Amino acid sequence: MNKTLLSLIAFLCAVTFTPSAHATNYGVVISNSEDTSIQIGLVDYLNVSYAPPPSLVITNLVYNSGYYQQSTYNYNTQVLTFIATDPVTQNTFLYTVDCDEWSIINSLSFPGGAELRGLASDQTNNNNPFNIWTTAQTGNGLVIVSKIDQLSLDIVIYDILDGNYYSSTLGSNEDYFVTYGNSSGIFVNVYSTLHHKISEQKFGFSDIAETPKGPINMIYSKFTNTLLATVIVSTDNTSSFSTLAFVDRKSSTFQITTMASFANSIPEANVPDANNLNYVYSVGYVGSQYYLYSYNIYTQLLLNAAPISIPIAAAF
Ligand SMILES: *[C@@H]1O[C@H](CO)[C@@H](O)[C@H](O)[C@H]1NC(C)=O
Ligand SMILES: *[C@@H]1O[C@H](CO)[C@@H](O)[C@H](O)[C@H]1NC(C)=O
Ligand SMILES: *[C@@H]1O[C@H](CO)[C@@H](O)[C@H](O)[C@H]1NC(C)=O
Repeated sequence: MNKTLLSLIAFLCAVTFTPSAHATNYGVVISNSEDTSIQIGLVDYLNVSYAPPPSLVITNLVYNSGYYQQSTYNYNTQVLTFIATDPVTQNTFLYTVDCDEWSIINSLSFPGGAELRGLASDQTNNNNPFNIWTTAQTGNGLVIVSKIDQLSLDIVIYDILDGNYYSSTLGSNEDYFVTYGNSSGIFVNVYSTLHHKISEQKFGFSDIAETPKGPINMIYSKFTNTLLATVIVSTDNTSSFSTLAFVDRKSSTFQITTMASFANSIPEANVPDANNLNYVYSVGYVGSQYYLYSYNIYTQLLLNAAPISIPIAAAF
């Protein structure tokens, strides 16, 4: 399996990416700059060679990159919500940003924000209270599934689980999917605002020689009705690559696909195409070079791996 994947990587990199002339597909991205400011702006996923300057800069704060998914975007209201950390005091804040006006709607001190993972906004047309799902990971091994009111910072708890958080996303029917693991295995639970816990399902990995790391950065592609997550596969004791897996609820497996990164690429973010194309984009970096990988979900082909000058930490 690993060898097949590796030879595919080399082959697929030769496939060219030719979106129709003048097609654009803008998405909102968050990055950190070296002078500890958070930069928010647009990139064109079909042409990342042109990196526009950020549309909003928030100084003296950092966005937690890595696998925590501490941000979410409402595509209807163009509202971005994220947790920002003061690198000096480690104090955390909940930011709400209007990505149409490029203005800060709200910034609230949010003690305990560092524990929050997997923010996922309801895709409503209004700003109802309690419209942000999140999962907290406590230091004593509890995973707490909740919704937050982003104005009052009040929290409604939906479930408390034993284990470690892996990833979560808003999926089909606007249900919230949470992946976590403990010594009994890896589970995917599904929640809805009205019905609370809908299901709990134990998952395994599709046939692969060595158990991969993850899954992380789970996303839902509405157009293809597909849940995807990144897994990290070791090729030997010194190198690895990341690849997308289908979260297949029928077979209860994370099905490893050939939508793979370059060797030693560190995964940062996944984003489904929002314009009804059956594409999914992944951001990762090798050394200090960031890449935007574009894949076709149906054929599992890598369409393009474009170097990008913005160190993207979150993408929508
Ligand atoms: C990419 O964007 C740049 C800047 O807008 C533009 O000059 C260039 O023609 C675009 N490339 C393609 C292939 O559309
Ligand atoms: C692991 O999680 C499952 C599902 O929530 C739960 O039933 C089980 O008790 C947990 N196991 C441990 C050892 O905590
Ligand atoms: C890596 O693997 C090689 C060959 O299997 C082995 O000789 C070496 O000791 C391993 N290194 C580490 C750090 O585990």
